[in-house]
Amino acid sequence: TTDPLVIFTPSGKRGHFPIGTPILAAARQLGVDLDSVCGGRGICSKCQISPSYGEFSKHGVTVADDALSPWNEVEQRYDDIRGLAKGRRLGCQATVQGDVVVDVPPESQVHKQVVRKRAEAREIVMNPSTRLYYVEVNEPDMHDPSGDLERLIKALRAEWDLPELEADLGVLRSLQPALRKGEWKVTCAIHLGDDTFSPRIMQVWPGYYEGSIYGLAVDLGSTTIAAHLCDLQSGEVVASSGVMNPQIRFGEDLMSRVSYSMMNPSGADEMTRAVREGMNSLFVQIASEAEIDRNLIVDAVFVCNPVMHHLFLGIDPFELGQAPFALATSEALALRAIELDLNLHPAARVYILPCIAGHVGADAAAVALSEAPNKSEDLVLIVDVGTNAEIILGNKDKVLACSSPTGPAFEGAQISSGQRAAPGAIERVEIDPVSKLPRFKVIGCDLWSDDPDFETQTAQTGITGICGSGIIEMVAEMRMTGIVDAPGLIGSPEQTGSPNCFQDGRTYSFLVHDGTETGGPKITVTNRDIREIQMAKAALYSGARLLMDKFGVDKVDRIVLAGAFGAHISSKHAMVLGMIPDAPLNKVSSAGNAAGTGARIALLNRDARKEIEDTVHEIHKIETAIEPRFQEHFVNASAIPNAVEPFPILRS
Ligand code: FES
Repeated sequence: TTDPLVIFTPSGKRGHFPIGTPILAAARQLGVDLDSVCGGRGICSKCQISPSYGEFSKHGVTVADDALSPWNEVEQRYDDIRGLAKGRRLGCQATVQGDVVVDVPPESQVHKQVVRKRAEAREIVMNPSTRLYYVEVNEPDMHDPSGDLERLIKALRAEWDLPELEADLGVLRSLQPALRKGEWKVTCAIHLGDDTFSPRIMQVWPGYYEGSIYGLAVDLGSTTIAAHLCDLQSGEVVASSGVMNPQIRFGEDLMSRVSYSMMNPSGADEMTRAVREGMNSLFVQIASEAEIDRNLIVDAVFVCNPVMHHLFLGIDPFELGQAPFALATSEALALRAIELDLNLHPAARVYILPCIAGHVGADAAAVALSEAPNKSEDLVLIVDVGTNAEIILGNKDKVLACSSPTGPAFEGAQISSGQRAAPGAIERVEIDPVSKLPRFKVIGCDLWSDDPDFETQTAQTGITGICGSGIIEMVAEMRMTGIVDAPGLIGSPEQTGSPNCFQDGRTYSFLVHDGTETGGPKITVTNRDIREIQMAKAALYSGARLLMDKFGVDKVDRIVLAGAFGAHISSKHAMVLGMIPDAPLNKVSSAGNAAGTGARIALLNRDARKEIEDTVHEIHKIETAIEPRFQEHFVNASAIPNAVEPFPILRS
């Protein structure tokens, strides 16, 4: 007689096993991904499985209800204390008694897929750098004089197939009490090592540790620092939070911060201190939001632009302020949180994604990781819009990247009625093609401005100005209704037929909203504002166009708008303006915060770090400043939408 057949789903792996084999053991032999932290002792419940009963004609097996050993006292005890869901068994307790089909539910897989958020281009498979291991250690005796740490490492390696391990002084100091308190059973958090660090025990808890360990995915922007706190066992985001980058007091945009560091001998140091302090206060905030101890945060991944990268690391960004924009290093960095003054677990690790070039940072690398243009069949253009647009164009054959100095106009800066995106800011605009009068929506209110309830609903916030997405829609709508012409001039009331155009010095301006009666501002668009937008959009477009030249194409298959701002831009208006190349509107999508997603991927999957390091080495960097074609494209792109390019898809 042959041994019973065990089939695992969803993997389909199968094999024959002698009666009495625990399902966990069968899974391990077949290489089925079934989790276990306690090593089969019936404590952790990570090994839960669901046996299926009935006939499986596809597999030619019938599973009787005695195909597994009956529920045993370990499972009973577990169920009494914590409850085991209906139909679930502990894989380490249930043994094979006959042919059986066993389903491994997603939460019992180590390499489980993390639930994908909307707009995320790829799925994340768990493979974190730091994991928990439960182990039983031999007690010392007069015949085995080895130290407690040596016996712990021996037990860990024997049970878990781990490499040689080291431990910090912090671990050594807590080890002896933990072993004795846990009666020689402990749970260890182990960092599995990388190119920089050897594998290491980070923390020891007495007995079975019920809690989890956490990691941070941080998007360090010049304006805000945003972080996701992730559970390193489930992959779940347990809290998300953000703070203003305190460096703002040294300059709104990147170049003014670089000049601050040039002008003040201790300027770079001050900014380093400020950003690290901001970071630490964010960590306090996010840990309290998730109600966890900050000491349980053992890993952190950072993405940022090159200037932020240098200032965060404490490197003077001087060289980034002048050609040829040399980075101190473009390689990925594995560091200890302590070296960066970050108050996390004392042994916490930090990983910073590689930079692509002097103007294309680790944030762009993170976008490349999450959008994976290098795996795409179709040619994809990815633009991350900020004060410096980072642009990637590529497919599975080749990927190109550049940055383009768009300036802060898209964030509402340098616009006469411009402001940051905040309640009260105009974010959506429509101009009636017949009356040529505008109507709009402000952040914090769902109604359009011509709704009778609009005034009462916005009484709290007021109508304070126009934010970046609002100004883009505004200028595009003005162009569509003929209030602005292709070269970018606002016409007179007679020329345009709009009563809202008015003489403003030597040019005309357009009145959007007059709030002076209620004590609010008068919101207008001046011809200078149009100029600012033309400059910014021309810079963005010519960067993209230059990459298309280098690729040898004159159209792309799809366009992805990344960045928080990208999420708010209307693709139609962006195309009317000629910000982005002509493409079918249904091929333009928003990736949300793709840089933040890239950071999360690198946090939750250690192989992804290697992957992005390899990808970045293969990306061709194009320096816009030395390309004569860039200037040419820029001049043409100053017109709305463009002086020479026809935008046939847009027009149809
Ligand atoms: Fe821990 Fe089964 S492996 S309960």
